Amino acid sequence: MSNVTVRGGAALSGAVAAQGSKNAALPILAATLLVKEPVRLRNCPRLRDVGNMLHILESLGCTVFREGNDLIVDSGTAANCVLPTALSRELRSSIFLLGSVLSRFSEADAPYPGGCEIGNRPIDLHLAGLRKLNAEIVERGGRIRCQGANLSGAVVDFEYPSVGATENIMMAAVRAKGTTVIRNAACEPEIVDLEGFLNACGFRVSGAGTPTVTVEGVEEGHGTTYCIMPDRIVTGTYLIGAAITRGDVTVTGTRPDTVDALLSKLSACGCDVTAAKDAVRVRAKRRPRCVEFTETRPYPGFPTDLQPQLFSLLSVAEGTSVLVENVFENRFKHAQELKKMGAENRILDRTAVITGVARLHGATVTAHDLRGGAALVLAGLCAEGDTVIEHAERIERGYEQIDLAIGALGGAVARKEL
Ligand code: EPZ
Repeated sequence: MSNVTVRGGAALSGAVAAQGSKNAALPILAATLLVKEPVRLRNCPRLRDVGNMLHILESLGCTVFREGNDLIVDSGTAANCVLPTALSRELRSSIFLLGSVLSRFSEADAPYPGGCEIGNRPIDLHLAGLRKLNAEIVERGGRIRCQGANLSGAVVDFEYPSVGATENIMMAAVRAKGTTVIRNAACEPEIVDLEGFLNACGFRVSGAGTPTVTVEGVEEGHGTTYCIMPDRIVTGTYLIGAAITRGDVTVTGTRPDTVDALLSKLSACGCDVTAAKDAVRVRAKRRPRCVEFTETRPYPGFPTDLQPQLFSLLSVAEGTSVLVENVFENRFKHAQELKKMGAENRILDRTAVITGVARLHGATVTAHDLRGGAALVLAGLCAEGDTVIEHAERIERGYEQIDLAIGALGGAVARKEL
């Protein structure tokens, strides 16, 4: 366990490079099991969640090592299709392994996944999709046992464009007989990155980034070298850092097109936003203006993973803002923590009414989940005095050395291992 202490007052300024994307890296790591040759991954972030995924891969028999900044995964030696309980419960993304393990070994045995407490997070769409591909699934004693000796292509219609279910079915389908068509698929950029990785391994996937993804099954894939996309949520977090501290921050090595929904909100708040090919700059000279209405939606809508950070910004804006969380049913735990810092908000089911205050003050607060924790770091940066954030290890699940990154922008964040 760890905590961080944030000293408020400094306007963030300078440039920071975007880390590799956690939500692209995790499904890509699961997909390394689909080939029996080594895979070299570039720009794979050094995060707690990535570490847990690598431990799970090693428990299945993969060989994993770093060479400089590259990560090499060799699943040639993998031979086990039973996922370890404790590790898998630590990580929501362990569910992604169902599709790739089933494809590789024709059977898979996994516990229900863990992860952030931001909602019920059922996996019915994952299992319904796998059953469509001719997998037999038995759920008993807290475990999911799958048999799939004859996975075959099918049309899979999703009731909801789930990111994880789309990625899982893509992985289960690449070596299935025939063609799979996923309809109402999620369109997140991380799914396009997974398609890029699978095709680099010799598989045949098309349409990622649109609601219809097509996968033509092939017998085998091969090893490859692949560079993981930059993290759009981390990019957005540092840009909101500029807005909330009235600073001037440039995030480099990123994909501006993947944060469009946020950039239009920051412009509406009165920030100067400039985007170049692979960099975005946000300058804020004045107190942010409120944003009347924002709601989270699947991509390209406003991302739920930036909702808490925007919540912090709107907590110090001029005027009242309304924020609706449509994706997860329990993702406002940061609201009560911000109130400890002097914020004013009311939560009505999935709607937050946020009345901006001129200044927050330091307090001892808790990071209940990854993005909620990041939102408290941002609030602490513009608060009077020190803010102590407990359970900061939850932030390390998705941010590489956030203390050093913000330190490089002139902010004061000190980490303490407990
Ligand atoms: C991915 O989670 C991300 N995680 C999440 O980021 C992100 O918030 C989410 O997509 C939405 O963008 C990773 O990529 C590792 P979903 P995932 O399946 O795949 C319901 C972060 O902070 N649903 O699109 O779990 C579900 O309950 C994390 O980095 C079903 O009902 O998201 C939720 O309400 C948090 N049945 C909604 O769909 C299913 O079978 C969206 O879930 C699957 C999902």
